[in-house]
Amino acid sequence: MKGVILAGGTGSRLLPLTRLMNKHLLPVGNYPMVCYGIDRLRRGGITDILLVISKQSAGLYTDFLGSGASFGVSLTYKIQEAAGGIAEALDLAEGFISPGERFVVLLGDNLFLDDLTPYVDSFLKQSEGTAKVLLTPVEDARRYGVPVFDDKDPSWIAYIEEKPKRPKTNYCVTGIYMYDSDVFDIIRRIAPSGRGELEITDVNNLYAADRKLSYDVLKEWWSDAGTFQSLREAGEKLKDTL
Ligand code: G1P
Repeated sequence: MKGVILAGGTGSRLLPLTRLMNKHLLPVGNYPMVCYGIDRLRRGGITDILLVISKQSAGLYTDFLGSGASFGVSLTYKIQEAAGGIAEALDLAEGFISPGERFVVLLGDNLFLDDLTPYVDSFLKQSEGTAKVLLTPVEDARRYGVPVFDDKDPSWIAYIEEKPKRPKTNYCVTGIYMYDSDVFDIIRRIAPSGRGELEITDVNNLYAADRKLSYDVLKEWWSDAGTFQSLREAGEKLKDTL
């Protein structure tokens, strides 16, 4: 199984630091942020990894990570020219994933302690053309994609609301996604949102509409290190884990 880490984006909530370098290279504990996603994939048995990065800091990524060999993985790099949304970044993985192949996608700012292995195993048992997301309970779900469960069979997600004013559940859809190569056809079916981006929630909602979006709930700590406060907390939490 392959992995894709989306590590482009502008990181506007972390200005002015992100004027210096891409958000996913900022220090978390003793390592750049992106290393934690690589480590989670490696421990889950996924060592063939595509990093989607922006032009900003592209040289720093290769300086630090190189081929990935010193981290026990094999890295391929793709450049996302301009920030066009998570689904647009994911679309760049099309040539890296073979037809019919399944893969894990991580948003590079999603930091977590769960072992991915059981979630990957359960996804591998799902039928073709389905997808899985991982959820976690949060205090303020309004900042995230929020799942609403299927009334008839709550083991499936009915739909996801992106940053709802009144969340219907207290779960957040984390940036840990599992797809097969059908996802690239799904991406071609969505249109840019109001903010001009191809939204991953629109992709997931096309799966959900066909009752093809399953989920698991993380058991351990999770954070998206998109703000200074969450970056500091993540540094404390993860400092001795690599
Ligand atoms: C993105 C997704 C959102 C998800 C979040 C997790 O939001 O759109 O559904 O809950 O990542 O980190 P963003 O952080 O890009 O606003």
